[in-house]
Formats: sequence, C-alpha cells, structure tokens
Amino acid sequence: MADFMFVLKNFLVVSLAMNMCLIWKINYDDEETLSSKWSSWGNLQQKFHFHGSCFNGEKNNGRVEEAQVSSKKTEILATTSYVASTVVPDGGESVVINLDHGDPTMYENFWKQKGEETTVVTSGWQHISYFSDVKNVCWFLEPELVTAVTRLHKVVGNAATEGRHMVVGTGSSQLYQAALFALSPHNASTPMNVVSAAPFYSSYPLMTDYLKSGLHKWAGDAHKFNKEEPYIELITSPNNPDGSSRQDVVKGHKGILIHDLAYYWPQYTPILSPPPDYDIMLFTVSKSTGHAGSRIGWALVKDREVAKKMTTFIEINTIGVSKDSQIRAAKILQAVSNSCDNDDDDDESFFDYSYNLMEKRWKKIREAVDKTRLFSLPDFSPETCSFSGRTFGQLPAFAWLKCEGEVDDCESFLRKNKIYTRGGKHFGASMKYVRISMLCRDSEFEVFTERLPTIIS
Ligand SMILES: Cc1ncc(COP(=O)(O)O)c(C=O)c1O
Repeated sequence: MADFMFVLKNFLVVSLAMNMCLIWKINYDDEETLSSKWSSWGNLQQKFHFHGSCFNGEKNNGRVEEAQVSSKKTEILATTSYVASTVVPDGGESVVINLDHGDPTMYENFWKQKGEETTVVTSGWQHISYFSDVKNVCWFLEPELVTAVTRLHKVVGNAATEGRHMVVGTGSSQLYQAALFALSPHNASTPMNVVSAAPFYSSYPLMTDYLKSGLHKWAGDAHKFNKEEPYIELITSPNNPDGSSRQDVVKGHKGILIHDLAYYWPQYTPILSPPPDYDIMLFTVSKSTGHAGSRIGWALVKDREVAKKMTTFIEINTIGVSKDSQIRAAKILQAVSNSCDNDDDDDESFFDYSYNLMEKRWKKIREAVDKTRLFSLPDFSPETCSFSGRTFGQLPAFAWLKCEGEVDDCESFLRKNKIYTRGGKHFGASMKYVRISMLCRDSEFEVFTERLPTIIS
C-alpha cells in the first residue's frame, strides 16, 4: 500500500509538471492569441498577486512588478477589471502599455451606469436543456436573442434581417470556422482556398489552418490570388487592422464571400443606406457593445442549407452555445436599442457615448502623432451616417500606425519604449506598420498618448 502511495504521489508530481510545461508551451507558441506569452505571465501574475499565493513579484501599492519582459523592472498597466483603478506612477514612464490585443474595456463605465437595467438573474433551474427552439434551423438559438438582434439592426440600419437565418456562435470566431466548414466542399480533391486582402485580421490565417482539416487552407492576400480555383474571400468592413471600408477584391467567378461586419457600428464608421444584405454577415457583441467576455456572435445567412451546415459545425464542436450568455447578450442589446429610442436628453444613448469616446481618442492620438515626425496615421474621408446624421471619417477600433523614416520594424521600436503593439507582418503587411488597440481603458490610453510624442529613438 505504501509503495502504491509513493508511486501515485510521484505520478501526480510528474503529471503536474507536464501540465505546467504544456500551459507554458501553449502560451509561448501562440503569439497571436490572447494567451500570448507576455500577457499570460502578466495576467497570471496579477491573478496570483490578487489571490495572494505563488507570486514572487513585489507588492507595490496595488501595482504589479513585471519580471519577464526585461531585466529592468517595469510596471504593467493592468488589464483586468480587478485593477481598473490602478494608480499610474509619476509621469508613467516606467509603465508597460499593452495595446496588442483589441480587448474592448473602454465601454465599461457606460455599463456601470446602467446597473439594474442590464443585470441578469438566473435561478438554478433555468437554462438547463441543450435546446432553445427546435423549430429553428439553429435549434440552440434563444428566441430572446433573435428579437434583440433583429430590433437593433433595424434601429441602426446596419444589416438586412428579413428572410435571413440567424446562427449564434461562441463569438464570431466560432461562426467564422462554421462558415468555412459549411462553404468548403467535403468531397474535393484539394482544400478550398481562403483569402482576404492585406492587411487582414491576423487571426484569419491561424483559424483557417489551425486544425489542418483538409477542407480549406489559407491562401493569403486576396490582391495576389490569381488561381483558376474556387475560393472563399473574407471582407472585413470596416477593416481590422486599418479601419478602411472594403469590398471584395478577387473578381473571379468561383468565389464565395463572407462579410465580417464586427465593426460596422456607428461609433466606428458612418452607417450607409441601404443596409448591407450580403449572403453571410458576421457580427459580435465583442466590438459592438464591448462584451467580449460573453463570447456571443451571430451570423445572418441567406441560404438555409448553409445555415444548417453552420449549425451542424457548432453542434459537433460545442453542442450549442451557452444560453446564459445568449440571454445576457439579449439583455445588453435590448438596453442599447432602448437607449437609442429614449428621448430623455439626460440619458446618453450607447452609440452617442461610444461615438464621443472614439472621437475624443482619435483627436488625441492624431494630436500626439502630429507632434512628431516619426509616425503617421491613415486619413479617412467624411461621410454622413444614416443612423446619427453626423458627418465624419472612420474612427476605427485600431490605429494602423506607420513608423516613418529609418525605422523598419515599428513593433520592436515601440516595444523598446514599453509600448506593446502588433506588427504589420501578422496582418500580411510591412513591418513599418503596427496595429494599436484604441479600445483600452482611459488610464492606458492617457499614458500612451502622453508617451508617443516623447519618443525620439
Ligand atoms: C474582424 C474581427 N472579426 C472577428 C473577431 C472575433 O470576435 P469574437 O470576440 O466575437 O470572436 C474580431 C476580434 O477582434 C475581429 O476583429
């Protein structure tokens, strides 16, 4: 018995060590995802710090010392809501600003004001079944979410919903994969080509090839695609990373289009009339309302068979999508529509709030860039928004910053100045560009825009 216990203990220790190595390896290898090495360590450290165990950094007035990034001790400006009120040290020069991820925390204050209106209470007996509406093509789609999504698209005018099939996904990321599964022929001798015009969203190549499925393969920049073969083209409009409005670029006759409209909302871009009515349109609460943590996206699909296949993918993948999350998302989306319908001048609508915030941030970043000759930003022509009546140029969720002059690797250049961004190569573009998230909390954005003009080398 004693021998058996000894063997069991050794086995547990070895297993624990292997799991730790695996976690480290996943984080280390996958630079593109939210679990990148740096942020994982930063977040793990924050977690350990706040739970009071295992963390060997120093406690320093609610700030966390970063030990992995450089030998010199630096301060991380925290990214979790635990530490939203972190005090920035004098001048903030020692703070590492992580603007690599598009984590949409900037709307947090709006939602704090909403309190009860957006609070969802769920009893233990609720949302137990796998099923939501067996009559619907997407049988795990909550009717409340359908009502909320349809209403909001009508209010904003940013998508045609009539006669569409709605499919819900665990984020629009899952819907992207479901769409590839549905649109790629399952009996073809070669995988379906998947393209998008560079600079493209850096997760597309990863998500397309991650499982090496044989159904589809990443075929790169749509501008360079000239094969006489079937293809799927992704059109992201406004685009991540550069904020431009886009249309399909491959003019072949063998193409199927997916429109990723994650940012087609009036805080980022003028909404144009008539509403888009493409075959497949993807949306997400992550970027519309800022509820990335709920992991809810929806697809509006014209063709019933495509919607059915997408549903099958999600059925096999995760047997549906969390009902709790769907109901929360429905509540949030209804609150957004209510805020737009409300005539009370004292109550700012969600889109007025978010537009004003984006406008302020873009003014600030442009002022910061104008103070130096080292950087430049894209310009956007103004258009009139059919939703708000305002005339404005794009206010993208990311700034596509270019290092002018001698600097060839803008990401490394900014990293030396403790600003973490995502370099152009991840988007199929030149390393002279970086993508900077505009969706962080105010405190991070302030430090960033103060630091940018002070950079000289
Ligand atoms: C263009 C685009 N599509 C999809 C997504 C993924 O959204 P979700 O959080 O719903 O998976 C993102 C997130 O950054 C994005 O930028």
